[in-house]
This record gives sequence, C-alpha cells and structure tokens, in this order.
Amino acid sequence: MVLFNVSRVETTPFGDQKPGTSGLRKKVKVFKQPNYLHNFVQATFNALTPPKVRGATLVVSGDGRYFSKDAIQIITKMAAGNGVRRVWVGQNGLLSTPAVSAAIRERVGLDVSNQLVFGSKATGAFILTASHNPGGPNEDFGIKYNMENGGPAPEGITDKIYENTKTIKEYLTADLPDVYVLHPCLLVFHLPHTVDITAIGVTSFCGPEGYFDVEVFDSASDYVNLMKSIFDFESIRKLLSSPKFTFCYDALHGVAGAYAKRIFVEELGAQESSLLNCVPKEDFGGGHPDPNLTYAKELVACMGLGKSNSEVEPPEFGAAADGDADRNMILGKRFFVTPSDSVAIIAANAVEAIPYFSTGLKGVARSMPTSAALDVVAKNLNLKFFEVPTGWKFFGNLMDAGLCSVCGEESFGTGSDHIREKDGIWAVLAWLSILAYKNRENLDGGKLVTVEDIVRNHWAAYGRHYYTRYDYENVDAGAAKELMACLVKLQSSLAEVNEIISGIQSDVSKVVHADEFEYKDPVDGSISKHQGIRYLFEDGSRLIFRLSGTGSEGATIRLYIEQYEKDPSKIGRDSQDALAPLVAVALGLSKMEEFTGRSAPTVIT
Ligand code: G6P
Ligand code: ZN
Repeated sequence: MVLFNVSRVETTPFGDQKPGTSGLRKKVKVFKQPNYLHNFVQATFNALTPPKVRGATLVVSGDGRYFSKDAIQIITKMAAGNGVRRVWVGQNGLLSTPAVSAAIRERVGLDVSNQLVFGSKATGAFILTASHNPGGPNEDFGIKYNMENGGPAPEGITDKIYENTKTIKEYLTADLPDVYVLHPCLLVFHLPHTVDITAIGVTSFCGPEGYFDVEVFDSASDYVNLMKSIFDFESIRKLLSSPKFTFCYDALHGVAGAYAKRIFVEELGAQESSLLNCVPKEDFGGGHPDPNLTYAKELVACMGLGKSNSEVEPPEFGAAADGDADRNMILGKRFFVTPSDSVAIIAANAVEAIPYFSTGLKGVARSMPTSAALDVVAKNLNLKFFEVPTGWKFFGNLMDAGLCSVCGEESFGTGSDHIREKDGIWAVLAWLSILAYKNRENLDGGKLVTVEDIVRNHWAAYGRHYYTRYDYENVDAGAAKELMACLVKLQSSLAEVNEIISGIQSDVSKVVHADEFEYKDPVDGSISKHQGIRYLFEDGSRLIFRLSGTGSEGATIRLYIEQYEKDPSKIGRDSQDALAPLVAVALGLSKMEEFTGRSAPTVIT
C-alpha cells in the first residue's frame, strides 16, 4: 500500500474565475499561472456539501486538449487531499462529455483486485474541456463540474464556486509518491508525484483519512454498451453495410474519434476510410473543433457543400462532432440539416425508429433561440413541450422530473434523457436509426430514402422554419453591451420599432411583441432573467439577439433569424434568400455595423 500525506498550501484569490455557460474557460496561459487551477478546484470542493467530497467517487477526464494531463494530476491529488474516496479517469484522460455524464449515472467501479464495488456510484465530475474552442498552448482550456444526476452544476453551485474563488486562502493536496513507468522498449521513466493514467487498472493509496483509489478505465466500453441499449445496432449495421449507403464522420480531432472507431467501424461495420480526423489531438490539429459549416471544412467539402468542384460523388450521410463530442452537425449529400430541424425530425420519428422511445416520449424541449420546428411536432403529436433558456442544464431539471425525453438547441446540441448532457454520437445514431427505419424495405431493392428526402418530407408535413444564425465573434465587449442595451431600450416603443423596420424593408410583417426572455423553471420555480432579446413578428417570425456565454475573449454577438412557411409551394427556397429581408431588418434595427465596425458576421449557420 502506498502512503501519502496531505499539505495545506497558502494561496491568494484570482478575480476572474466566474464560470460561464459551461464552466470556466480561459487561455491555457491563464490556467498555467501558479495556483490558478488549484484555487478553482478547491473553491468547487468548498461549494459542495461534505458528503459529495469526503468519501465520494469523482470522475476526472475530458477531451484531451493541451494541459489536460497536468490538470488531471493536480485535481487527483487535490481530491485525495480533500478526502475523496476514489477518482475514475478515462484511459489517457480521455472521456467525452456525454460519456462522463453516463459514467456518473451508471458506472460501477472496480477495486484493486478487479472486483465490482457496488455503492461506488460517482457523485460528480470535473470535466476538462473548452468544448468547441480551439486547443493548444496558446488556445483555450476549460473545467466544469457536473453533479450526481450527470448534468452541469446549477447556478446556485456555480455562484458559490465563484464567491469562494474571491476569498480562497488555502487548498489541500496530497503528496502522492513518484511512479516509474515501463516503456515498451524497456526503458523506465521516473515521473515524480504522478498518477499513471495510461494503463487500465486500479491503484490504491492510503492517506491520513484512509484509502484513496484511482481507477483508470477504458474510455469507450461503457458508453458503447449504453448506446447498444438505446438503438437497434443490427438495423443500423444493415444500413451501413448496404452498397447504396455511404457514410462519413469527422471528429475534428476531438475526443469523438475515440468512440467513432469503436462504434461506427467495429460495431456497425462502416469502412475505416469513412472516418475523418478521428485521432484525438491536444490541439485538434490546429483547427477549430466546432461542427458547423465554417469550421468543419473538410467534411463540408466531402459532402459536396460549399464551393467544392470535386468529381467524386459525395456520401449519403455525413456528421461531425466538437472537441468534447457533445455537439453534432448532420449533413446529407449536398444538404445541410439545421440543428433546429434535426431535433424536430428526431422527435417526430423517435417512437418508430428508436427502441429506447418505443413506449412514447414524455415530452420535448428546445432552447429559446432554437427554431419553433419542434413546437409544431409537439403540437401535432400532442406532446408536452418546454422552451428553456440557452444552456443544457435547463433540460436536466425537466428530465429528472420525467417531463422530457428529447431536446435540442440551435447550437448543434441534441440529446435525450439517457444522460444529462447533449450527445453528439447519440444524435448520429438517432439519424442512422431513422434512415435505417425509412429504408427498411429499400436496401435490397428500391430507391434509397435520403437525408434530404426525410427533411423535405418533414417540411411538407409540418411546414418549414427558415432559420439562420449570424455570429459576430470577438467583438469589443463594451460595444456589444451597448448594442444590446440599445435593443432593450428600443423595446419600450413598438411604434418606433415598426417605423424603423418599414424604413428598412417594407415587405416584412409587424413586430407585435418585444421583450427579454425570462424563464420560470416548472420544477424548482427558479427564475432566470435576461436570457436573450426577442422581437416577435405578427406572422410568427422572430429576431433574437444574445451575447455568447462560452467565449474566452471579447464578446460574441449572436443573431438568430427565423421565419415560418406553411405553404408547400414556398418551402423549397434557399434559406439565405428567403431570410434576406429579415436579416436586413435585424442589422438595421441593431445598428450592427455602427456598433461593432463589422460589415459581415464571422460565421453564418
Ligand atoms: C454550450 C452549452 C449549450 C449552449 C451553448 C451556447 O455548448 O452546453 O447548452 O447552447 O453553450 O453557447 P453560446 O456561446 O451561444 O452561449
Ligand atoms: Zn462541446
């Protein structure tokens, strides 16, 4: 048994540790300051009730971005120092955000003799990711805490963490012994005060308060089993092995690569060549691991979208994930599925196509800026429906209360109540299930029902929500605040708003309501204010303005534009053409160029 002591280390507060929408995200250089990560971790331990720390089991892993390995060492030692009983780490520190959520909810750990330890259920996790933000020595690192339900910490906890970071005086850490690692070429490496996270197995230590175990486990196995319990892998395998169906998956060098090979190739029989950028890298190969039409360049070209002149016939189906594999983008051959349509289509087909939902959906939910395509499905299928603020944590409460089965956001997040995070691989499997179901009689003969067919048929049945999002990234924070303040001020006079609009564009309908979105959680009654500026039009169109809560530098203004079209003869237009008048109104109303100096957005989706 390896023994350790615990040290109390003096520290002083940092003023900038307020968690955003998804935890604390900063440049690696900020995280590397002495005690910076330590302070945040200790502030988190201090914000939790003692049973969630002393004697508890914690998951510590992430998307493998630069600085993760150092962070895992720091957090593991601090966990031991704070009386945590065991820490679970994905091999090499890799776990996707959905896999962490699943591990908290479902995993049973092992002891040193590889026996199951019942009652070892995790009470929380430190997830090390900055999601879709770039990684590397000059880019972003991030950390967030998830609770025992597998979902992100609620605001009550993150506010407490922030308060604690402002007054912190000391942290606790264990002086773990050195390890010696045997390299395959029989060289022995000496790693001082380090826990080996490369080899699967349990290492047991003993400190002043008793035992402390570190279990390193396979990053994918439990998650693969969970997916097998939700979807009909046999029917998806049949689809993927059909010569009519071609497939492509781009992990953008994020952690999704660790799951894609296991699930799509080994379990479902896809060709290895259908995986793009599926080797996880600390810097995501220098790219921006955000699955959208701008950043997933290689996939977009491969699917025949954009300006590609390739002679090669694109695959029938393409998908991408972000760094931590909770986001997804779904594409058909030369066809983009908006995330808002994606969740609506999954909800409309879930009962028939996905065994997990065969007894029916408890309800569905979307975030406020997500288009109302899901609302129409909910109405038609008579399902409970909820509109929540941006941020996955708001869905968690609904799911814990048994009110919601499927939910999604325009920000490329889709998921269900199997876990409490959005799930990029789940979304791909949901789409493959729908394709397998629609083609169950076509694979041996007959014409393939494509992604595009499914979407167009959906529009024909439910109407189409034309939708686009303009992002103005890294603009001056002061200018962004002023722009938002002006838009709020303008809301006090709809007459003035409509006068401005008719001066910009005479053929759009009138604004009939304008406000800042406010949400009362139906489960715990908590109220969230200032969740986005809304302009709602007589014909159901919406303009929404929000400041991103996930950036790490300057401000990002998001502008969401939506217009509903029920007339089947008008649902086939190019969305940018159809929305051009509303875009002009949005830019004029907000004086976007005047405030930001930007004549065009950084990203359009
Ligand atoms: C994260 C959250 C999502 C949310 C998104 C919003 O990905 O998990 O639930 O929709 O951030 O990002 P934004 O940059 O618009 O605040
Ligand atoms: Zn993510």
